[in-house]
Amino acid sequence: MEYTVKSGSPEKQRIGCVVAAVYASRKLSPSAKILDEVSGGVISNLVRRGEIEGDLGQTLLLHNLENTLCDRVLLVGCGKEKDITTRNFRNINQTMVKRLQASGATEIASYLTEAPVRRRDITWKIGQSIEAIDECLYEFKQLKTDKSSPRRPLRKFIFSVSGRGQLADGEIAVRNSMAISTGIKLSKDLSNLPGNICTPAYLAKQATTLQQQYPKIKTTIIDEDEMEKQGMGALLAVSRGSSEPAKLIVIEYMAGDKDQEPVVLVGKGVTFDSGGISLKPGVGMDEMKYDMCGAASVLGTLSACAELQLPMNIVCLVPTVENMPGSSAIKPGDIVTSMSGKSIEILNTDAEGRLILCDALTYAEKYNPAVVIDVATLTGACIVALGAHPAGLLGNHNPLIHDLLNAGEKSGDRCWELPLWDDYQEELDSNFADMANIGGKGAGTITAACFLSRFTKKYHWAHLDIAGVAWKSGKQKGATGRPVSLLMQYILDRFKAANQPS
Ligand code: BES
Ligand code: MN
Ligand code: ZN
Repeated sequence: MEYTVKSGSPEKQRIGCVVAAVYASRKLSPSAKILDEVSGGVISNLVRRGEIEGDLGQTLLLHNLENTLCDRVLLVGCGKEKDITTRNFRNINQTMVKRLQASGATEIASYLTEAPVRRRDITWKIGQSIEAIDECLYEFKQLKTDKSSPRRPLRKFIFSVSGRGQLADGEIAVRNSMAISTGIKLSKDLSNLPGNICTPAYLAKQATTLQQQYPKIKTTIIDEDEMEKQGMGALLAVSRGSSEPAKLIVIEYMAGDKDQEPVVLVGKGVTFDSGGISLKPGVGMDEMKYDMCGAASVLGTLSACAELQLPMNIVCLVPTVENMPGSSAIKPGDIVTSMSGKSIEILNTDAEGRLILCDALTYAEKYNPAVVIDVATLTGACIVALGAHPAGLLGNHNPLIHDLLNAGEKSGDRCWELPLWDDYQEELDSNFADMANIGGKGAGTITAACFLSRFTKKYHWAHLDIAGVAWKSGKQKGATGRPVSLLMQYILDRFKAANQPS
C-alpha cells in the first residue's frame, strides 16, 4: 500500500474517494461540513433524514457529490466526538477499509485524521491508521492454490493534515509506521506457516535472509555441536525428542555507537509444541504451531529497525526447537544442566519454553546489554489471568517495566504487569536439582517468570508472556503480529530519549 500525507480542502481532491467523519448525534466533522456546503446541503439533508447518525460502525457512501472533484464521498460514523478512544480510532479506520473494499475506489483521501482522540496528536493518528488499514488488508494465501486478489484493490491512502506545518511530522509518521507494518507482516507470515514448513532450520534460513536484505545485519546460527560446547544443556534437552535439530539464531544489528550497550530481544521459537512426553490434549493442538510467535515478533521488530536504519544497537536471540515425544525425548524427572551451571529437574516436558529461554538468557550476558526483553507464548495461565487483550509483563527493573507499559498504551499493543515477588520463588524448589521447571497449581505465569528471573540477575530484564495475544483462534484464526508494535514504540521512545538535548 502506498501512503502519503497532504494538506488541502476535501472538495478539491481529484481522487476515487474522500472519507470524512460524522459524529454522534448527527454532527458533521469540519471536512464533512465543507463537503456539505459546496454541494448545497446534500449531506445535512441526508443526515436529517436519518441516513447516518454518526454512531460507531456506520457508513454512508455517496457518489458524484456536486462541486467536488472526487468520484465518491464516504461518511464514517465515529461515535461521540468527545469520546473517541484509541481503540475506537482503530475500529473507525477498519470500518472505513471494509466499506471501501466493496466500493471500487482504489485511491483514497482520508480526513478521519481530523477526529479528535484525547492526548493523541496527528503523528499518532497517522501511525494508527496505517497499522489498522494494513491489519484489515492482511491475508495469508501462500499455501492456497487460488492466490487471486480483488479486481480493484485499494492502492493508495492520502492522510489529511491540517496545514503545511504538519507535513514533515506526518511524513515521519508514515515512514515509521510503514516500517512497523512490514515488521508485523513478517511476523504474521512466519507465525502462520505450519510446523512442517516453519521448522527451526526454516527460521534460521529466514534470519540469514535478513542479513542479505539489510547490510547492517549480521546473522550467526549456533548449531547443536556448538550448543554442546557452550553447555546449553536445557535448550538441547527440549530438542532431543525431535528429528529437527535445534538452532540458536543470533542476529546483531549494530548501527549505533560502538560503546552503546545493546537492547537484546529474546524470542521463544518452539516451531511446534506437542508437549513432549507430557503430551498435550489433541483438541486445538494445531495452534501450537504458534509457539514460535515470540521469535517471529522479535525478528519482525529487528527488521523494522533495520528498515528505518535506526542508529542503535539491537541484538535478537532466538532459541528454536520442536518439542516432540520422540524416543530420545526428555522424560519427567530428568535432570539437565543449563549453560549457567544450574541444574534443572524437568517435572513437566510441556514447560519447555523456559528451558530454551534460560540458556538464551545466559548467552545474552556476553553482550553486556542495556536491557533484555524476552517475548514468549509461555503459559496457558496467562490467558486465564488476562485473556486476549494485554500481554503479561514481569521483570526485575521498574523503569523498564514502566517504559514498556507506556509503550503499550501508546501503541495500543498493551501489556499489564504481574507481581514477580519472592513469595513465589520457593514453588520451584526441587529435592534433586537446583530447581524444578514448574511451580504449583496457581499463578503459572508468575512461577514461569520466577524461573526465568534466576537467569537474568546480571542485567535489566523484562518478560512478555504473549500466550493470549499472539494469535486469534476460531473462525478468524491467525497471527496478530503482536507485540511488534509495542516493541517498536519502546525502541523509538528509547531512541528519542537518548537523542534529546539535556
Ligand atoms: N506453549 C505453551 C503455553 C501455551 C499454551 C500458550 C496454550 C498458548 C496457549 C507452553 O509451552 C506450555 O505448554 N506451558 C504449560 C506450562 C505448564 C506445564 C507448567 C501450560 O501453560 O500449560
Ligand atoms: Mn509447552
Ligand atoms: Zn510451549
